Amino acid sequence: MKVRGTVRVPGDKSISHRALICASLASGESRISGILRSEDVASTATVLRSLGAAIPALSDDISIEGTGFGGFREPGLALQCGNSGTTARLLAGVAAASPFTSRFEGDASLSRRPMKRVAEPLIAMGARFEFEHGDGLPMTVHGGDLAGIAWNTRAASAQTKGAILFAGLLAGVGVTVRELRRSRDHTERMLASLGVPMAIGETTVSLTPVSELEPLRMAIPADPSSAAYPVALGALATEGEIRISGTCINPTRTGFLNALNRMGASVRFTEKRTVAGEDTATIVVLPRKLSGIRIGADDVPSMIDELPLLACVAAASGVDLEVSGAEELRVKESDRISVVVSNLRAIGAVAEERRDGFKVSGGRGALRGKVVTHGDHRIAMAFGVIGWLDGNDIEIDDRDCVAISYPGFWSDLARLVE
Ligand code: S3P
Repeated sequence: MKVRGTVRVPGDKSISHRALICASLASGESRISGILRSEDVASTATVLRSLGAAIPALSDDISIEGTGFGGFREPGLALQCGNSGTTARLLAGVAAASPFTSRFEGDASLSRRPMKRVAEPLIAMGARFEFEHGDGLPMTVHGGDLAGIAWNTRAASAQTKGAILFAGLLAGVGVTVRELRRSRDHTERMLASLGVPMAIGETTVSLTPVSELEPLRMAIPADPSSAAYPVALGALATEGEIRISGTCINPTRTGFLNALNRMGASVRFTEKRTVAGEDTATIVVLPRKLSGIRIGADDVPSMIDELPLLACVAAASGVDLEVSGAEELRVKESDRISVVVSNLRAIGAVAEERRDGFKVSGGRGALRGKVVTHGDHRIAMAFGVIGWLDGNDIEIDDRDCVAISYPGFWSDLARLVE
């Protein structure tokens, strides 16, 4: 397979959620360009509107008049989070610091995902939570006055960290979050860029409260988790070059690119810039022969959403891959350990499931068969990429689920294949 071309993948999903939340809470008019228009970000917009924020229809250039702190009102209906864990978890922090009751609902996948990791610190700060089915949605949050907190998170979860930071911001109390391993740091970077005093260490972040948030002016960089798919296509090709422009290269997000380079790929950055506290670059990728690699717990947070793709890259290039310390994959949009392994086997690769990861064994022929996505966008895209390689023939049961994070995925990638 030959590849050639430049692609601009859509805006970063994590930053887009946070931009909508910060703009809604700011005092004054925010302007955001390049926001991701996907189902997950639409869920955050919907929930914020239900809380009283004036979010227009999402377009490439939007302005939002913030309500300031204390401007949200009790929602008349349940807050519909769809498939989006980031929506439910970050906004649980906002709801916990708001003097009313909010009920969060989600689709079948989100309703199975753990929410207590977010509820626990918010309860310790003074909010009250009710659960109907164990750990998942629906979840009712009775918010109000909160006290400051210093919290140690168990899993490296940027969503839990973000929820605590938003709760502290809105409640006007100091908060500190300590993580075992650093999770993506977009919340703290954005709040710092909007005038909030933040002390940011390697694995600790502290917020000092302010009376108002400055409006946000931001061009949202392209999402490295979406860029990972054309990068993989370029690395696996037989000939050519792919460039992915304007991509966020925040070091808490570049684990997949680093892993590919360790496997022998040629992934480089050019045209580096900084936009609202986030570094961006054009990623240039050339095909190379890859070799096997081991991924351990320290590597996982910076590539958590790309691990299904890395598994597919290993299977497609016929090299060994061992991943451990990644039990968080079991509570993503699907159980990504079991779903990756069962699908790799279904298309003829050799893979083994472990409690906290998986092993893909090298040596291969063509990969052929049907992939069952369980509605998980990243499974569809990871297996979609290797479907383009010469000799492979992969059918994806639900191609449309890519709309959760990357609606133009199939056409963007098809344009890069010669
Ligand atoms: C996200 C954090 C990660 C990631 C998810 C987006 C975020 O989840 O997997 O896709 O925007 O904060 P965790 O916080 O559960 O690790």
